[in-house]
Amino acid sequence: MSGMRTLGEFIVEKQADFPHASGDLSSLLSSIRLAAKIVNREINKAGLADIIGAVGTDNVQGEAQQKLDLYANEKFKAALEARDQVCGVASEEEDEAVAFNKALNQDAKYVVLMDPLDGSSNIDVNVAIGTIFSIYRRVSPIGTPPVEADFLQPGHKQVAAGYVIYGSSTMLVYTTGHGVNGFTYDPSLGTFCLSHENMMIPKKGTIYSINEGNYIRFPLGVKKYIKYCQENEPQDQRPYTSRYIGSLVADFHRNLLKGGIYLYPSTLSHPEGKLRLLYECNPMAFLIEQAGGLASDGQRRILDLVPTELHQRTPFFVGSSEMVNKVEEYLETYPDQ
Ligand code: AHG
Ligand code: MN
Ligand code: MN
Repeated sequence: MSGMRTLGEFIVEKQADFPHASGDLSSLLSSIRLAAKIVNREINKAGLADIIGAVGTDNVQGEAQQKLDLYANEKFKAALEARDQVCGVASEEEDEAVAFNKALNQDAKYVVLMDPLDGSSNIDVNVAIGTIFSIYRRVSPIGTPPVEADFLQPGHKQVAAGYVIYGSSTMLVYTTGHGVNGFTYDPSLGTFCLSHENMMIPKKGTIYSINEGNYIRFPLGVKKYIKYCQENEPQDQRPYTSRYIGSLVADFHRNLLKGGIYLYPSTLSHPEGKLRLLYECNPMAFLIEQAGGLASDGQRRILDLVPTELHQRTPFFVGSSEMVNKVEEYLETYPDQ
């Protein structure tokens, strides 16, 4: 126990990495930590609420059964608004960016973009889900409401990014551009404790993660890459291993720890891919680069893409550097007709 460091202590300690830090970012990260605990509590009883709901006759459970992704959206928004470090948020659950109107919020210098509940199709089946967040310094003047340009910044401008994974244990993993650190939640203490210091993804891995049901609709280069994974034996007479949860956060987290690649390419029906650049791909790209890996849209570095729309999508290849390089090679060698 003596060496144990909590997330709160760590945030304060790391404030020294930023020479003129005012503590605003630390306070912002603390709001995220708080919202994560609240959402975690709700997720942990999601199954239970269903049992109770099924027994009851009338709809007294109505509020508890509010869709978890809307619940998470409200809790994160409320936590961010309450602490006055954020002037606005953009979220998967909101058509437009939300400006916080209080004067104190308008004096804030940060905006947050988020996917409040990632992997929603896994909520009902007790499989890991997550929250993804991305933080930028606003470009509009302090003291005014945020504008679209504050949210449409390229990923390399991110100040911090991270995710919460609500899994067999709950973890918060984040970066401020000085490496990646992971904290595991101890529910008995109500505290996140540093459990994964300075996380680095192996340069090569043996896991590939893709929804292979879409195989027929993949670009030729991706099909060839999958065949490469199936035909080669990187692990002593075993081909690469396929692992796909269907929650980006969970697939990413496993690959970060073990080495691997996550792919969501363009498909015939989704020519731009499925994942959203601003609140799914950019934060994960920032994290993976900080952990020594790569993130690409197949040709270009994700963090260099200049967004034009809040909810824009992009093909996404993220993980161990040698694996991402390999996919890029295949896409170049086998361009689609
Ligand atoms: P969300 O639940 O926020 O809508 O995100 C789901 C995303 C991502 O988490 C996951 O990796 C991917 O969609 C799964 O898509 P498929 O079901 O098409 O494989
Ligand atoms: Mn998502
Ligand atoms: Mn979502």
